[in-house]
Amino acid sequence: METKQLGKTGIFTSVIGLGGMPMSIYNRPPEAESIQVIHRALDLGVTFIDTADSYCKDESDKHHNEKLIHKALASYQGDASQVIVATKGGLMRPDGNWVRNGNPEHLRQTIRASFEALGGNKPIDVWQYHAPDTQYTIEESLAPVKEAVDAGLIRFVGVSNFSVEQIQRARDVVDIVSVQNQYSPWQRQPESDGVLQYCEQEELTFLPWSPFGGSRRHQGLQNIPAIAQLAKAKGVSVYCIVLAWLRSKSPCILPIPGASKISSIEDSVRAVDIKLSEAEVQKIDQAT
Ligand SMILES: NC(=O)c1ccc[n+]([C@@H]2O[C@H](COP(=O)([O-])OP(=O)(O)OC[C@H]3O[C@@H](n4cnc5c(N)ncnc54)[C@H](OP(=O)(O)O)[C@@H]3O)[C@@H](O)[C@H]2O)c1
Repeated sequence: METKQLGKTGIFTSVIGLGGMPMSIYNRPPEAESIQVIHRALDLGVTFIDTADSYCKDESDKHHNEKLIHKALASYQGDASQVIVATKGGLMRPDGNWVRNGNPEHLRQTIRASFEALGGNKPIDVWQYHAPDTQYTIEESLAPVKEAVDAGLIRFVGVSNFSVEQIQRARDVVDIVSVQNQYSPWQRQPESDGVLQYCEQEELTFLPWSPFGGSRRHQGLQNIPAIAQLAKAKGVSVYCIVLAWLRSKSPCILPIPGASKISSIEDSVRAVDIKLSEAEVQKIDQAT
């Protein structure tokens, strides 16, 4: 698997990651099946896994996805020592809803709980602030994150659902290596809001979330003729075309396609070998 540097950390990860969310929210597969999905991803060379404290069914199930990933890594027969697990904190799941919580004390507690859920024997590789909470300033919410870095609980920090201005403020508090915002054929805001350009210029890794539009919209990719035709012509899936299109947009992009089936991650990693011409990229741009 081709690799790329995470920010300017000197650490290299696979150019396609695995998004863990579909293995822990509603309709999730049995645990043994999810562990097989993660093991298959590792077999294929995936060394970047995205997760969150909130990838679970509700508050009583918090940290489900982190514990699952830890279990899969610990039981893997091969070498999982180079795998980077990027988790998040700052969202709550009351009754299955998604609610922002940037309360510094909450973040302090959830970082500690994520550290334990991921094994408790080494710093969290990447901890991302999931989404800014307007009840607190960026500075207030990130203060406990800086503390956790200094205390050796977190190795690298990322932010998610942030604007350029918010990223800049975050960087005044703590060193940032990655930005995770929504980016897909359905949602192309990073191309126009300056975030993608900023990440490229500052050498921050950009992690596009829901690259296929998420669990509800992904099947609609077949209905975008430009994408479906390219997939047919190249003999690959529409998912591979979308990942190749995203990767063509900037060298700082590292897609994290979600999967709860082995066949999904097996297919998504095939995108590594697909390069689109400028004309092909433009064709998709015009159609989406
Ligand atoms: N920071 C944030 O606010 C935020 C928000 C949402 C998501 N995320 C992160 O981004 C990751 C990706 O987003 P997502 O999971 O919401 O949506 P997604 O990656 O756009 O789509 C995932 C869905 O597409 C299907 N799929 C994936 N690859 C496929 C393939 N090659 N062939 C056929 N089907 C395929 C999967 O099906 P199966 O489940 O059947 O395998 C899965 O249900 C998440 O897992 C999470 O880690 C972050």
